[in-house]
Amino acid sequence: MFFGKYNCNTCHQVTIPNGYQLGGGGGFVDTGLDQSPVDKGRFDVTGKLSDVGKFKIPTLRNVALTGPYMHDGRFTTLEEVLNHYSTGILSSKNLDPRLQENGVPKQLLITDEDKQALIAFMNTLTDYRMITDPKLSSPFKIN
Ligand code: HEC
Repeated sequence: MFFGKYNCNTCHQVTIPNGYQLGGGGGFVDTGLDQSPVDKGRFDVTGKLSDVGKFKIPTLRNVALTGPYMHDGRFTTLEEVLNHYSTGILSSKNLDPRLQENGVPKQLLITDEDKQALIAFMNTLTDYRMITDPKLSSPFKIN
């Protein structure tokens, strides 16, 4: 599966078949978005230098509906997120080892075909019924 091929699942754990355990996997990591992050992320809470640039691993449940993406909403589309993982990872100080190879940022070089497959997979994690179900239209209405 493409999600495993690129090791996405080592951080974003997805438990199928019931589809209800799409947790973020827990933890905070640096995904190499910035070399010197302005928003220092987890560091602002712990004060530890080893936490600079680390952000919570988000769940991908309903991800097609939750853009813009990343802690600062810098990416509008899932394709932009994939471009980051594909060729955009920067060598930040606390870059997660899973996104490095021999001490340098990994270039996952995700093919266009695999990008489409990954996006299709992420769409399956999204419950489109939720947004049109009249029963869920208002928290103040009892059906
Ligand atoms: C080393 C752990 C790690 C790996 C591996 C990883 N991610 Fe992420 N991912 C994160 C973190 C942390 C964030 C949040 C970053 C932020 O908020 O700045 C994130 C954010 C995302 C988002 C945006 C979610 C949102 O709601 O903003 C998507 C989509 C995503 N990742 C998909 C993937 C895919 C697809 C792969 C494999 C190609 C992958 N990730 C690999 C840790 C990881």
